[in-house]
Amino acid sequence: MNKQIISKAEERIGKIERVSLLQNQGCTSEVHQVVTGEGIYVIKSSYEQRYREWLMSEASVLEKLHTIAAIPTPKYYGYFEASNSSHLIMSYEKGMTLTSALKKAEKQEQLSLIKSFGHFLQRLHETTVAGFYPHHWLAEQLKKAEGYVASGYADGSFELLQKLIVHQPSNVPQTMIHGDCTTDNVMVVNGNVSMFIDVAGMTIGDPRYDESLAIRKWMNHQEYLEAFYEGYRRYQVTKEEFAYFNEGLYEFF
Ligand SMILES: Nc1ncnc2c1ncn2[C@@H]1O[C@H](COP(=O)(O)OP(=O)(O)O)[C@@H](O)[C@H]1O
Ligand SMILES: [Mg+2]
Repeated sequence: MNKQIISKAEERIGKIERVSLLQNQGCTSEVHQVVTGEGIYVIKSSYEQRYREWLMSEASVLEKLHTIAAIPTPKYYGYFEASNSSHLIMSYEKGMTLTSALKKAEKQEQLSLIKSFGHFLQRLHETTVAGFYPHHWLAEQLKKAEGYVASGYADGSFELLQKLIVHQPSNVPQTMIHGDCTTDNVMVVNGNVSMFIDVAGMTIGDPRYDESLAIRKWMNHQEYLEAFYEGYRRYQVTKEEFAYFNEGLYEFF
């Protein structure tokens, strides 16, 4: 981290004593653990334009949720931009991602973690909070996808996008969603999934998108899938819905 970034961070969290790169890194950012006299923080930094926009949106979500216990997320401590980068400061959270926890666990514990993930996601889908308003989520996602295809960012093709535009799934009631609800983006503390991270896409939207990304690794593992649905009891996506969101829409994000 360069001097300019350190000094901007210190305005918000006090004199920095130690900085270390976190062992687990995501795909859109660089994450550092930062220790000051006031506490332990994570600084998440992005450098590419698209990822900088996502980071700004994550900052705005975390800021809105700062006092909302019903949706556990890291605490927000600030966001700033430097000439070629953007930076989000949040609380450092103990624990590990569900992906890491599953790698370490025996079968029974894996099943219990997956059930707890289902339960945690169900709670999100049943929560309403002030400051988030219904909008045309799917239409907006398809519009963004179009922009990403045009700029060459997306894995998905223009043809796939056309299909997604023409064959939209039937409407279901919109809920609060995470928006990138893979096992990489939830944290496990004391054997339970109990925190959402990477919340740039958290908004009111289609809960089938979260559900599809949540179960994507277990489509051919019946036991794991059943464990998820022991926790997540509100709805089960059809094969077609799963394909639309996981093999379709997600290809553009
Ligand atoms: N607040 C936090 N506390 C502790 N670890 C975190 C925190 N935020 C992120 N991490 C770690 O950093 C990794 C990458 O963060 P994430 O927000 O998912 O970045 P990306 O958008 O690049 O996927 C996570 O998998 C997690 O291990
Ligand atoms: Mg992530």
